[in-house]
Amino acid sequence: MAIIAGNWKMHLGPTEARRFFAGLSLDARAASQELLIFPPTVSLVAAAECPDRDARVQLGVQNIHWEDAGAYTGETSVPMAADAGASFALVGHSERRHVFGESDAQVALKVGAALRHSLVPVVCVGETLEERRADRVAEVILRQLDAVLGAFTEDEPRFLLAYEPVWAIGTGETATPEDASAAHSTLRARLDETLGLARAARTPILYGGSVKPANARDLLGAAEVDGVLVGGASLDPVSFSEIASAAG
Ligand code: PGA
Repeated sequence: MAIIAGNWKMHLGPTEARRFFAGLSLDARAASQELLIFPPTVSLVAAAECPDRDARVQLGVQNIHWEDAGAYTGETSVPMAADAGASFALVGHSERRHVFGESDAQVALKVGAALRHSLVPVVCVGETLEERRADRVAEVILRQLDAVLGAFTEDEPRFLLAYEPVWAIGTGETATPEDASAAHSTLRARLDETLGLARAARTPILYGGSVKPANARDLLGAAEVDGVLVGGASLDPVSFSEIASAAG
């Protein structure tokens, strides 16, 4: 079973979210994958309560604060996100790191907060084009991974990793299946060393960055790729379900 996750970013308000779920039709292959959607926070309740939502599609929140409550204007705490219907939390998405200046230390605090309230963190890592050109892919993604690994033990709790090269996000540039496999193998080797083989094998690594129906089969078939995190192509229910059907 692959994991097919849709990150809507700042798209699809409550009305459009309901329309998405009403339009989503899953064939047997798509329905047998683990399906996640990350709506904007303001659309979470509409998505959670939407009578048309196939209950097999689980929900997550795109961003959380590490405190449970307080004077943090504009932020969302984990208990609130859980109450609104989220079971997963994206943490460390490259737009949070690069547009909003989120640090590795803040990403680690957010992972801790998600775990305190039993949300499954989806930890995103990835290098910029400059870092790739300077041959620093492994150094960067391992630094980002190491910043959160202390939160996990050999047995628990569940988390997902997502490798999202910054240069491939929203640009139409996709990593080749070989690029994705190489980065995923680097991450998996670190999981093996730190958490042990059995636990590492239970920790899926998703690829994200310009995944579309046309390239989903090749990416999902690449070695070490356990699923995909889809931005733009997840806004349309037809292309989201086509990507899910492309999983083997
Ligand atoms: P994209 O975004 O598919 O639009 O490139 C992926 C992501 O940022 O999660």
